Amino acid sequence: MLAIIAGTGLTSIDCFEPVSCEKVITPYADEPISVSLLRSGEIPIAFLPRHGEGHKLPPHKINYRANIWALKELGVSGIIAVNAVGGIHEKLGPSCFAIPDQIIDYTWGRDSTYFADNLDEVTHIDFTNPFDEKLRQRLISSVSKLKAEAKSDLEFLDSGVYGCTQGPRLETAAEIRKLRQDGCDLVGMTAMPEAALARELKLPYAMLALSVNWAAGLSAGEISMDEIYKVLDEGMGLVGRVLARIANS
Ligand code: HPA
Repeated sequence: MLAIIAGTGLTSIDCFEPVSCEKVITPYADEPISVSLLRSGEIPIAFLPRHGEGHKLPPHKINYRANIWALKELGVSGIIAVNAVGGIHEKLGPSCFAIPDQIIDYTWGRDSTYFADNLDEVTHIDFTNPFDEKLRQRLISSVSKLKAEAKSDLEFLDSGVYGCTQGPRLETAAEIRKLRQDGCDLVGMTAMPEAALARELKLPYAMLALSVNWAAGLSAGEISMDEIYKVLDEGMGLVGRVLARIANS
């Protein structure tokens, strides 16, 4: 069973029917983590809203360790993260998708590892390629097929560097210039430590990112939240269709 970790704007998925809600107790949170179990035809899928019920947790307050632990506990075989991002690459304007293949982590002060306390020995994970290539290819093929069938103007990048900033504020124009010089193609606030924790627990992890705005300074004027929510609303319908496809692939 695959799991979806849903970000801002994705509160439910049309193509899936609800089956049950699991409350998973973890060593990392006082409260259990709520994970919905859904079904698309015969295919089960787990659904975890990253920002908590009611979308109340900002990126730096999300309990990433408890979330990933809960999915491991449920026995999921892999994780598709859905992330709203700012576009830096010239082909990643609002409404375009990306399936990134690299990450640069600019976050700080987050609980970013399971290997911190009570260790028998110091533990390091390989993170050369932070995303699972097989899962990435499944995502790329699902998006490509949907694009061909729907003959929609669904545009996407099949690779890219995700720069993960601390938030919750958006970046300054100078910060985005620096990120671009570093090689970042998209910017968001939630891929880290999520991706690394999934790797620590040996869970394949890939991301479907939806650009909801040009990153700071790349379009005239300020970034409008109203615009972001409009793009999110429109884009999440397509996200649901990609997810239904990948679940059945
Ligand atoms: N920056 C960081 N995170 C984001 C952005 C952005 O411009 N848009 C959506 N998430």
